[in-house]
Amino acid sequence: MSLELCPWEFLSEDRLRAFLTDPLNYQNAPDRKIVIDYLSKNFVKPSFLDVGCGTGHHYLALKQSGMEFDYCGVDKTEKMVEFARRRFPEGRWAQVLDGILGNGKKLHGPLWIKKGNPAFIHGDIHDLPFDDREWPIVYCRHVLVHLPGYKEALAELARVCSDCLTICLLKPLADKQQIKVEGKPPDQTKPGEFSEHYLNTYAREPFMGAIKNLGFDVVMDEMVEVGGYFGRYELIIARRGRA
Ligand SMILES: C[S@@+](CC[C@H](N)C(=O)[O-])C[C@H]1O[C@@H](n2cnc3c(N)ncnc32)[C@H](O)[C@@H]1O
Repeated sequence: MSLELCPWEFLSEDRLRAFLTDPLNYQNAPDRKIVIDYLSKNFVKPSFLDVGCGTGHHYLALKQSGMEFDYCGVDKTEKMVEFARRRFPEGRWAQVLDGILGNGKKLHGPLWIKKGNPAFIHGDIHDLPFDDREWPIVYCRHVLVHLPGYKEALAELARVCSDCLTICLLKPLADKQQIKVEGKPPDQTKPGEFSEHYLNTYAREPFMGAIKNLGFDVVMDEMVEVGGYFGRYELIIARRGRA
């Protein structure tokens, strides 16, 4: 699939491995537990689309919860997808889909995924290879703040979601929007260095307004204390309006 290079592609194998033990990101992060608790109380064997899945932490968290679920992780960074496939061999079969997606065809998620195995695939949050309302659960953790803006991405997440949209923001919503770039521009000669990426803060009113305008009602909006450098995350769960 031809995707414009993502800054995360510049992470070294060591940095990727560091994600595996980082307490703010790993599978036991407190926000993940809240999501799993909500899902297990409200859904039976949910089909779960994880957009910007990274190295597959949330897949592991779901697996360890003992809950039954269908899963597809999508990430723009090929390195992340490859890492997740290595980490979870049961997700490797999805390699066959790379060719199909490369032909611009839509992947009918639950149809494939329900064959019993999770999938990790390449894809951009701005153009997800799924039909409208194909996934009951769409989850997106620590991705929107790293994009130039959230509107198109949020609309695309909502498009493929039939019921429950779950968003975790590394930087909580605030009174004012702040678009911020961190790091240096990507340097092809130093592939191990983490390169320039956005670390934005979005304004609460327009963000919540956008969720509402996309047809979703917020059912949970929690600040999750995580300590450390970031302090707390904002976790938003919204359900598609039944009207
Ligand atoms: C901070 S990591 C979060 C990973 C994972 N969601 C987690 O919480 O463990 C951000 C992820 O978003 C992915 N990403 C960045 N831009 C993306 C885009 N346009 N479409 C899909 N994924 C993207 C990156 O490759 C990276 O894996």
